Amino acid sequence: MIQLKNIDKYYDAKFQRTFVLKGVNLDIEQGEFVSIMGPSGAGKSTLLNIIGFLDEPSQGEYLFLGDPANQLKEKQKVQYHRSHIGFIFQAFHLIDEMNVYENIETPLVYRGVKSKERKAMVADMLDRFNMVAKKDLFPSQLSGGQQQLVAIARAIVGSPKLLLADEPTGNLHSEQGEMIMKLLKKLNDEGMTIIQVTHSKENAQYGNRIITLKDGYVKEEN
Ligand SMILES: Nc1ncnc2c1ncn2[C@@H]1O[C@H](COP(=O)(O)OP(=O)(O)OP(=O)(O)O)[C@@H](O)[C@H]1O
Ligand SMILES: [Mg+2]
Repeated sequence: MIQLKNIDKYYDAKFQRTFVLKGVNLDIEQGEFVSIMGPSGAGKSTLLNIIGFLDEPSQGEYLFLGDPANQLKEKQKVQYHRSHIGFIFQAFHLIDEMNVYENIETPLVYRGVKSKERKAMVADMLDRFNMVAKKDLFPSQLSGGQQQLVAIARAIVGSPKLLLADEPTGNLHSEQGEMIMKLLKKLNDEGMTIIQVTHSKENAQYGNRIITLKDGYVKEEN
């Protein structure tokens, strides 16, 4: 599903080039549940953003479903991102002007799901995350953990082929965190490919494979 070949990502400042990713090779098959670990600043979010078409590598090749990403038009990338990928951001990225209900509904609108179906799907998510009573509130009126739950609901509501989750449980109480990890496991069992970034060894174990990023290099652990 995902093939990264010799990916570099660097930023150029006046007199120096700083590498965030260096010679990253990675193959991820459909149906896998991969955990990416590594210290702060190791490039985990950068890698996830590249996989989700939100950032581009400086060098190297990225193939998504066999298609070379650098040859896709901007429009196709947006289309891919919207129709195949659910993204849980490290910093939520909820839309401040939309309430909980509308935030969760957004990806379904982009995908052209009919209004009646949307209603049922969003209601199911609100129910699952115990957020029915909060559905009319705006992100600024929610706690960090509640915002995270909304972000998770938004990412999975359309059952994407690929879920990219950047520390999905970072702001949650351990019990809620466990609930989310079990939910991700279930979605993976049902066929969703998942790549999560996590600092927790315990959460990493929910996946079938752990990848550690350090100084821009990938180290596979099994
Ligand atoms: N636009 C940018 N310009 C320069 N450097 C950048 C830019 N964006 C990211 N970086 C650098 O890339 C490195 C990797 O950042 P990234 O967010 O991928 O780390 P991370 O592994 O996700 O860390 P954390 O665990 O803290 O979330 C950091 O050192 C960061 O400063
Ligand atoms: Mg990060």
